[in-house]
Amino acid sequence: MDGPAGVGKSTVGQLVAKELGYRFINTGEMYRALTWKALERGLDLADEAAVLALAESLKWDFKAVDGGVALKTFVDGEGVSARIRDERVGANSSLVAANRGVRRFMCRLQRRLGRGGGIVMEGRDIATHVFPDADFKIYLDASIDERAARRYRQLKAAGVAADRQKIKEAILTRDLNDLKRKINPLAQAADALVIDSTRLNLHQVADRILKAVRAAHGG
Ligand code: DC
Repeated sequence: MDGPAGVGKSTVGQLVAKELGYRFINTGEMYRALTWKALERGLDLADEAAVLALAESLKWDFKAVDGGVALKTFVDGEGVSARIRDERVGANSSLVAANRGVRRFMCRLQRRLGRGGGIVMEGRDIATHVFPDADFKIYLDASIDERAARRYRQLKAAGVAADRQKIKEAILTRDLNDLKRKINPLAQAADALVIDSTRLNLHQVADRILKAVRAAHGG
């Protein structure tokens, strides 16, 4: 499953995975985790060789926590999920995600995780590059205003101060970076089911996907 920032891929992906008895992986976590570590170590993110060397030096594990379907990212034994959500990591992750060696490294990890099947994986290049032979491909989209509104509501619900305009600008910048990147940019796979979720809630999106998956696989 691929799609732009803030479109609900993780929520939808987990609903679908749960229903199918599959695992779920958010591959953005991997790029964010590396960005967080690189910032923590004071690396110049534009130094591609140094950032790749850091990726290769870390121990990467993916484990389910609290009985959930999601395999969460652990780096050198430490769960990173909470630390990688802030805007500083999000904004800087575009640079790390444009690093050719890093993308090759992450792709290897992702292919290893998906080797046995039974997994919903979401990101930007999963259906186009990482798993071109996936059993089922989904491209999830929504208008920029709807994505900004969802992110705003999420932050408010979590008790975080949020500025609607700033959120929209941050999402637009991320979209642009993901779309114009030279290596494996965000794109729709030709054979993906494309869903515009602007006027659907995320449960409706998950239901639509499940119906299509079951129809395609005879059940
Ligand atoms: O989905 P997210 O916003 O957490 O992703 C974080 C960053 O990683 C973002 O800049 C897009 C990038 N990314 C990518 O290039 N390829 C992926 N498969 C997943 C994420």
